[in-house]
Amino acid sequence: MAAKQGSSRSDLRDLPHGMDLLNRQGLNKGTAFTEAERNSLGLHGLLPPQIESLGEQVVRAYEAYKRKDEDLERHIYLRALQDTNEVLFYRLLLDHIEEMTPMVYTPVVALACEQFSRIYRRPRGLFISYPLRESIPALLGNRPNREVDVIVVTDGERILGIGDQGAGGLGIPIGKLSLYTLIGGIRPERTLPIVLDVGTNNAERLREPEYLGWRHERITGQAYFDFVDQFVQAVKQELPGTCLQWEDFATPHARPILQRYRDELLTFNDDIQGTAAVALGAILAAVKVTGKSLRDQQIVMFGAGSAGIGVADGLRAAMEEEGLSDQEARGHFWIIDKEGLLHSGRNDLSPEQSVYAQQEGRLAGWMRNANGQIELAELIGKIEATILIGLSTVGGAFPETVVREMARKVRRPIIFPLSNPTDKSEAKAEDLVLWTEGRGLIATGSPFAPVVYAGRTIPIAQCNNVFIFPAMGLGVVASGAQRVTDSMMLAAARALSRNSPALADSSASLLPPLTDIRRVAAEIAVAVGMKAQKQGVAPKRSEDELRQLVAATQWTPAYSSLFAAEGVRR
Ligand code: NAI
Repeated sequence: MAAKQGSSRSDLRDLPHGMDLLNRQGLNKGTAFTEAERNSLGLHGLLPPQIESLGEQVVRAYEAYKRKDEDLERHIYLRALQDTNEVLFYRLLLDHIEEMTPMVYTPVVALACEQFSRIYRRPRGLFISYPLRESIPALLGNRPNREVDVIVVTDGERILGIGDQGAGGLGIPIGKLSLYTLIGGIRPERTLPIVLDVGTNNAERLREPEYLGWRHERITGQAYFDFVDQFVQAVKQELPGTCLQWEDFATPHARPILQRYRDELLTFNDDIQGTAAVALGAILAAVKVTGKSLRDQQIVMFGAGSAGIGVADGLRAAMEEEGLSDQEARGHFWIIDKEGLLHSGRNDLSPEQSVYAQQEGRLAGWMRNANGQIELAELIGKIEATILIGLSTVGGAFPETVVREMARKVRRPIIFPLSNPTDKSEAKAEDLVLWTEGRGLIATGSPFAPVVYAGRTIPIAQCNNVFIFPAMGLGVVASGAQRVTDSMMLAAARALSRNSPALADSSASLLPPLTDIRRVAAEIAVAVGMKAQKQGVAPKRSEDELRQLVAATQWTPAYSSLFAAEGVRR
């Protein structure tokens, strides 16, 4: 995997020397260059005389980080370190993973995208702008490193909660790929962030003199899809076998793009597939804690948009894997949207929603509101709901009466208000704990502090995609998979659920702590790779072999001697 290997002095001649070496973030060790390396590589005088270990550098870098008093400043500091010395950047992140993950990725990366043009310093990743559409293969050819394992690409239209950021959206692939490396161990030089710069409809960005993207309204319609296709064809030609992850595309583009290319190359959309997988992992863990099986559950989904239907589809597939027929599985879902419960008497449902329409016959005698709709309170009163999931964007939609009624009938109600941001959460974690008398199994979309109830501290799991995408990257790279299938996503969710701390201690968090996430990612990667083999999209290997491959692929930030065989990366 190393781009170059240096084991002898003659190889050292191929290495950059002096400032050229210090300017290469993948090779630079700064003050950690040894005496021998300083001698051979023309570094004396360019560095202060004191030689430091990586550990000492981390302490110094952390002190500098601590002196920053705003999140954006912390982000800028970390990004500058990433562009200077990648090993130190990743070691620092790893040693402070809980504190720093939010600074390089959500939520602070949203701010970094908004301010992208103001804080832009050094090149990282590729800008593929619409006016250069006829040269995409050449642009890809200009990538800094030949071998690429994972590309994350966005068109910047739906950046987290802040919408269209145009070319500034590149901040997202940069942040996300940092986590592919930090957690999945994808080697930093084998990642490639890309923004498809198709313009922006963000008037504020277009007004700003600093805006660095293509100053044009967004390309739409067939021209947009043709451009995406030119990009995909160029990736297939230049980088066949590279995993292409779509990120933060607007819904009307995200699904058609995924549908069009998912059987053509190694690709997935994290917003659609990763999101469903992490929620599914947490739900499966919660179900295990109750001691029942998935087929015993009555699932209420509040919100029938792309997220709600995506999670329901995952749960339904899991039920079918556990032996239920499609028809039987459908009967376990009760889904509500703006117009009330989905049922066969409604004629406003999309094909994806119709799958979950309850037979109207089952609803005879149920109370309807003035508009003839069946609301959440009525549904919870009528059935014995065991799982209640919110993906509706309606803050406070799970009221006390509803939650208490659910908790009256079920010993360990599973309640997941997953809407983001915090003010859109269907309920507050502390209220859910109180209303369920500490019996609720709770996970949220936004972060909530642990809740103290009856002398117990109850941690609240946050369904964050970070539990899935780096592991998926590791799994496909290590196993040599050629496609990402729904079953591989389901395997990832199941592996995540098997690693839930709540299985050993039922009041622990449903999802693992970030401090354990690299180990869990490796477990998920093995499960993904095994499933890929079963589905015939990866070469056959024993589980042991795959496990070894995963371990060998998962890069850990450490300096290696530039004299040693493993030493030189680029
Ligand atoms: P969407 O707009 O596609 O769907 C929203 C759904 O909620 C629609 O079916 C709508 O009819 C329904 N709804 C709206 N108001 C309602 C009301 N008063 N009563 C009943 N139903 C109502 O949105 P999307 O993309 O599905 O996202 C929904 C939420 O889920 C967002 O807040 C998003 O941030 C969050 N989300 C959270 C994730 C996580 O892992 N925590 C992942 C993905 C999305």
